[in-house]
Amino acid sequence: TEPVSTTAAPDHEVGTADKSAKALAAEAGRRRTFAVISHPDAGKSTLTEALALHAKMIAEAGAVHGKAGRKSTVSDWMEMEKARGISVSSTALQFNYKSPETDPDEEPNVVNLVDTPGHSDFSEDTYRVLTAVDAAVMLIDAAKGLEPQTLKLFQVCKHRGIPVVTVINKWDRPGRSPLELLDEIQERIGLTPTPLYWPVGIAGDFRGLLRRGEDGAAQEYVRFTRTAGGAKIAPEEILDSAGAAARDGDAWETAVEESELLSASGQDHDQELFIAGQTSPVIFASAMLNFGVRQILDTLVALAPSPGARADVAGTERDVTDPFSAVVFKVQAGMDTAHRDRLAFMRVVSGVFERGMVVTHAQTGKPFATKYAQTVFGRERSTVDSAYPGDVVGLVNATALAPGHTLFTDKKVEFPPIPSFAPEHFSTLRAESAGKYKQFRRAVDQLDSEGVVQILRNDIRGDASPVMAAVGPMQFEVVAARMKAEFNVEARMEGLPYQLARRTDAESATELGRQRGVEVFTRSDGVMLALVSDKWRLQYIQKEHPELTLEPLVATA
Ligand code: G4P
Repeated sequence: TEPVSTTAAPDHEVGTADKSAKALAAEAGRRRTFAVISHPDAGKSTLTEALALHAKMIAEAGAVHGKAGRKSTVSDWMEMEKARGISVSSTALQFNYKSPETDPDEEPNVVNLVDTPGHSDFSEDTYRVLTAVDAAVMLIDAAKGLEPQTLKLFQVCKHRGIPVVTVINKWDRPGRSPLELLDEIQERIGLTPTPLYWPVGIAGDFRGLLRRGEDGAAQEYVRFTRTAGGAKIAPEEILDSAGAAARDGDAWETAVEESELLSASGQDHDQELFIAGQTSPVIFASAMLNFGVRQILDTLVALAPSPGARADVAGTERDVTDPFSAVVFKVQAGMDTAHRDRLAFMRVVSGVFERGMVVTHAQTGKPFATKYAQTVFGRERSTVDSAYPGDVVGLVNATALAPGHTLFTDKKVEFPPIPSFAPEHFSTLRAESAGKYKQFRRAVDQLDSEGVVQILRNDIRGDASPVMAAVGPMQFEVVAARMKAEFNVEARMEGLPYQLARRTDAESATELGRQRGVEVFTRSDGVMLALVSDKWRLQYIQKEHPELTLEPLVATA
């Protein structure tokens, strides 16, 4: 494969974009920035491709989830990083979309789909992405229901107040009953599902969607026709109730009855409750057959919030029409010593970004040149000339930037740092050679400040052997690779037999220190954490010592 070129595109004239409040409000208003939260195999890649197909970005589906292509982008991440010295994982896909339901005279919507890495590369980045979006699509496999990774990501959305649209995927395959799937969502995560599109035909016999109005009444029947291999947009036929009954009698009647049951239990869409994160519009779909995909886009366009003001560290809101500002939410460092490429991804919060413009890095007060700004998707990189609130831009050679950092022009602003997330993997870390202690120490501080891993210490282990805590175990490999490449330190690490971290305090530390299967640490931000071997041990301690502080960490500030 060709190495990706990072040379600058022809010079772009900076300062030509319309920065009037009216233009900025309009650009922000037509944008929707969201992420898909799901468990591996629920169909995220297939859906991403189906969305691209509907947005006419690609002419045919089958490339991303073709047998050869897709898997390698996931499992060979490290290999590719090494070979090319850059990231190949997709970060944000942007496309224009014109919903048939919006005013034909209006500009199309701009949709930003920010990727949540989620296979072997599930890590802090997966969570951090959620700080860059305004809404999430919770993608559920119709046969499997809620799965662990989806639950974890949902908790972060809930904590951050991100509204969630639920998509029940793979309805073309045998699965559970639709009402049972909704019950599970309600019971396990306390989110009230309010279906907008109800399936006609059981899982495995997907004929179309009953569109429910705000009052839950059947508005129309969207009947789909399969295309060969699901490569094209599935043709739709819109029928009224009489037409639907004539066409798909029993399946239609069942859907109508079920939809009425939902209304009887108050499961109709309510925009305020959705934005407040209490309810979730539901769409049944088959990403593979492209059934329900238009409906997902139309729902995002109609109901998901557009980028809005964001509060800074002092609590003052930066409005989308204010001068340029952005938050870095992810940094990828090249693994190859030959290419010290560091790509920082920022989400624009306010104003307009123009490539070539010089911005200020709030954390250091230093200027940062943006000649090499890029949008990145899959293996493709292309330069970006301007970006508006809600858009994602990758900055090359961004050595000083770390997740949570702020960039701005004109009017100084600093946004709150990205919280650290509940780690589930723990490992010791020490330098192979004692003579390298100084470099080791610098490397630890650097990787800690970048949020690659969380660094925990206690007196017993001492400074030469801190403990790393991470959301995903791949982070440890990243630490080892970067220590070697950037600091010339061979790191030695050993996994620790803990599965859980709980926030604790100095008062509880002594008693916890006496417990088997527990070790207490102080994280570099001063938070005390108790690492516990497993949930049974935790339950036992909580029962024996209810006075001890052992709080779950969802996303601590
Ligand atoms: P992920 O990114 O969430 O991990 O899921 P991905 O899209 O890779 O989909 C996982 C598997 O589920 C793939 O099958 C994919 O074809 C299948 N799939 C996705 N959406 C649907 C759907 O709506 N209906 C059905 N029936 N299957 C769906 P695979 O066999 O693992 O891969 P492949 O050999 O098809 O590439």
